[in-house]
Amino acid sequence: MAEPRVEVFDDAASLDRAAAALVGDVLRTNPAARVVPATGETPVGLYAELAARRGSGALDPTGITIVQLDEYLGLEPGDRRSLYGWMLRTVLEPLGIPDDRVVGLPTDGDVSAACVSFDRQLAADGGIDLAILGIGHNGHLGFNEPPSDATSPTRVVDLSRSTIEANANYWGRVDDVPTRAVTMGLAPLLSASTIVLLVAGERKHEIVHRTLEGPIEATVPASFLRRTSAEVTVVVDRAAWEGP
Ligand code: PGA
Repeated sequence: MAEPRVEVFDDAASLDRAAAALVGDVLRTNPAARVVPATGETPVGLYAELAARRGSGALDPTGITIVQLDEYLGLEPGDRRSLYGWMLRTVLEPLGIPDDRVVGLPTDGDVSAACVSFDRQLAADGGIDLAILGIGHNGHLGFNEPPSDATSPTRVVDLSRSTIEANANYWGRVDDVPTRAVTMGLAPLLSASTIVLLVAGERKHEIVHRTLEGPIEATVPASFLRRTSAEVTVVVDRAAWEGP
């Protein structure tokens, strides 16, 4: 079990290029990779960089399968806040990946029962090859809010106050943020072969250091990245690394 590799970059463009190179390496060895792409602001530049590489012929993502990381619950179809919609705009359309190559999370009916089937099917299909993740100020990965154990399955969760406040930046106001969600669990995520964690901005300074240097425990779910067989690379900008 190797420690995560940490790479620090001066600016967003170099961070995006380095992350794109890591993704490119995985896709070259495994053009049919099963990839989890986080939504959120941090990886948007990486996805644009991947799309540019696709445009120039340097990257061919057409054989990959996308597996959804997280989604709000309680939204009507077409709701502007859908994280599937966010993924569609930032990942699927720019990379030319059709809907039928996406494994979506369950959001209707008996979601808890469907989550059990989701994890079972994921494992039967060979799990995740590459997870591209961001981190919450509270140390969440996906919506694995603290406390989340390393064995936590895909499941329905209540969002924490910290996440609701952070997500208000996406949708306008705190009251616009759904309070429940479904998230891929830490167990299937940490079983990925390769994990790239992107961290940017001085507001992530404290949590990136707690993740990498603090106790490995459920109150900082991302700390379990130090206890996985995955090859983990943390690409971080200088603002987050050095802080205010
Ligand atoms: P962000 O979100 O990339 O918008 O900061 C990260 C997260 O909440 O996981």
